[in-house]
Amino acid sequence: MATLYINEKNKKGHINPEIYGHFSEHLGRCIYEGLYVGENSDIPNVNGMRKDVVDALKEIKIPVLRWPGGCFADEYHWKDGIGPKENRKKMINTHWGGVVEDNSFGTHEFFELCEQLGCKTYVNGNVGSGTVQEMSEWIEYITFDGVSPMAELRKTNGHEKPWKIDYFGVGNENWGCGGNMTPEYYGNLYRRYQTYVRQYRSDAPIRKICCGANAADYFWTEGVLKTCTAAPAPGPEADNPGFMNGLSLHYYVHPGVWENKGSATEFDSKTWYQTLFRAVCMEELIRRHGAIMDQYDPEKKIGMMVDEWGCWFDVEPGTNPGFLYQQNTMRDALVAGITLNIFNKHCDRVKMACIAQMVNVLQSVILTEGPKMILTPTYHVFHMYKHHQDAKLVESCVDGNKIIGEEEYQVPMLSESASVSEDGTVNITVGNLSVTEDVPVEISFAELAPSRIEAAVLTGAMCAHNTFEEPENVREAAFNDFKADGRKVSFTAPACSIVSFRVQ
Ligand code: AHR
Repeated sequence: MATLYINEKNKKGHINPEIYGHFSEHLGRCIYEGLYVGENSDIPNVNGMRKDVVDALKEIKIPVLRWPGGCFADEYHWKDGIGPKENRKKMINTHWGGVVEDNSFGTHEFFELCEQLGCKTYVNGNVGSGTVQEMSEWIEYITFDGVSPMAELRKTNGHEKPWKIDYFGVGNENWGCGGNMTPEYYGNLYRRYQTYVRQYRSDAPIRKICCGANAADYFWTEGVLKTCTAAPAPGPEADNPGFMNGLSLHYYVHPGVWENKGSATEFDSKTWYQTLFRAVCMEELIRRHGAIMDQYDPEKKIGMMVDEWGCWFDVEPGTNPGFLYQQNTMRDALVAGITLNIFNKHCDRVKMACIAQMVNVLQSVILTEGPKMILTPTYHVFHMYKHHQDAKLVESCVDGNKIIGEEEYQVPMLSESASVSEDGTVNITVGNLSVTEDVPVEISFAELAPSRIEAAVLTGAMCAHNTFEEPENVREAAFNDFKADGRKVSFTAPACSIVSFRVQ
């Protein structure tokens, strides 16, 4: 038996809701078909946005949405995506499948989508192939309320009032698809480009995000921070070390080698443990990048923004390799559960994270096929974890956590985190990483003797997934199989499961 100790009195930090954020790129069928079908579609929509998808997304409380990329961002020229749709430029999406991008989803459509979702906005600018002027005019177009060429253009295009940009990314993966730069070169460009990300709205400051590392590239983190913090920023932003509010981190989990990541739905138990082993590595990445950040920003003013994370497998057979369309199983659910628990536990540094990607691309919460839509196991995890958003992380740890796995892929059997909501409810999320073994768990609170407990479970065979024919193979279910006795609650976590509790 394992004991999960929870000291609900010891609050360790605030879980920024944006940790539960999402990413949507002009890639495959994420934007087009997945989120946006256009006003004239037979698929029910509101101003072009799929109603079924938006409704489902609202259920998991989307806190923030990143757009338009990804690699696409450093090729995107925003002026191609404004004005009458019939006049918008058509281009080839060279990164993703070589298909025609007709720019029918642009700035106005993105803000409409975020309004419908009720979420914050994260716009990613173009450094790789764009100019400072282009970036600064985009900010002006979106956020300026006075008399100016870009504000006039926005009004001509039908939007009188400015929008709010909550986060602005100055380039994406500039060590790779965003320009193949060195950290020092990018660091200097960052300093220059961010200068012109003007704060036009005193009521809605834009938080700037600098392009951070891929996975374990600590050299990039060090080089960029060193360059950006080389001299103190003068003026009102002097408070921000390195002219930035956030530094990104990208980390994708895949078994095997990059060239052969394997099927999303057909894998053996060794591959299961290899995948989860790599998911657990997120903890080390946060610690080590965080240690470098601590040197330049000891007060933790710069957030670590893990703005791309998730599973990356081989595409579904018969689909366009450039569309990155993959199915989603209980393995994805466990990766999501493990990762979100890690983010919660590091909420002092991790201020945002965006799963890649929202619909139909990589580890999606929703898949669509024409008018049909299914929720993936990952969707259910986000649903079960949503109460952590905006809650206070509390101290928790497992005693008697077995190490399990196959060959070199050894992982702790249980993954967990706990938080307390504003109203005092304790939220607990637990994953059992074993493919075969159920595990009895006793939760032991410091003082709380629960009077009310609600719980849910998501479980299934390791390869279990939902299909358009069988959309409910894997779904969240109420969980009543627990016993409460004083300060203790005992239950058995089924093999291959996520269990969530809300305790009062
Ligand atoms: O999410 C798919 C791609 O992965 C993004 O465009 C890029 O930033 C990353 O390499």
